Amino acid sequence: MRKKIVAGNWKMNTTRPDGIELAKAVVARAAEVPAGVGLIIAPPFTHLCCCGKALEGSKVELSAQNCADHAKGAYTGEVSVDMLKAVGCQWTILGHSERRQYYGETDEKLVEKVKLALAAELGVILCVGENLDERKAGKHLQIVEDQTKAVLANFSAEDMKKIVIAYEPVWAIGTGKTATAQQAEEIHAYIRKVLADKFGAAVAEDVTILYGGSCKPSNAKELFAQKDIDGGLIGGAALKADDFIQIALSF
Ligand code: PGA
Repeated sequence: MRKKIVAGNWKMNTTRPDGIELAKAVVARAAEVPAGVGLIIAPPFTHLCCCGKALEGSKVELSAQNCADHAKGAYTGEVSVDMLKAVGCQWTILGHSERRQYYGETDEKLVEKVKLALAAELGVILCVGENLDERKAGKHLQIVEDQTKAVLANFSAEDMKKIVIAYEPVWAIGTGKTATAQQAEEIHAYIRKVLADKFGAAVAEDVTILYGGSCKPSNAKELFAQKDIDGGLIGGAALKADDFIQIALSF
């Protein structure tokens, strides 16, 4: 049975004190969430360490939002997988559309990052998704397939045990416009087919595929009821502990 997960991507929000308070507020309600639903928060680098401390003894796991594409050395401003591991991260988000769009994240760099993350025993939340023009042109399935294959061509069925896919249509991120449950399910089922073609149906069945893009308490239930939607990668709504937990209670 594949795992259900609700992950909060805090992006470049919260200062250290706000972050600790938010992490503690999530922990305070985490026990309400059923055992089969994993909770992850991804604070900014600067307060991963202290947010991680706030999570100790709870079911909530810690994720980074990105990592360097090199293991160590002269890469000013970058943060390595070993550094993330040492502050208690169990996960890193990779390939978020904001990184692809604003910071030149290429599939080639992503492959390096995923390799490093897996070697450091970090789980990976790998983001894929089409933009509005691509959807309007009817290319959404092809774009998502290409993005998924470009990275996963380099990995094995065994690696897929540590990789979660997040489908995030760019036009739905932070816009208040959610994909309908049918639109999202169409892509999730398609991603699972792409995975099945490469790794076999049994492996594909076990991969957790999250939906992201204006997911909130009011729409999570309908999204999570879809066969191939195994949870959410939550941006804006993850900045309020009550909304985040409410979403996690929506299965
Ligand atoms: P949003 O962001 O929930 O604010 O749309 C989701 C994401 O980008 O991960």
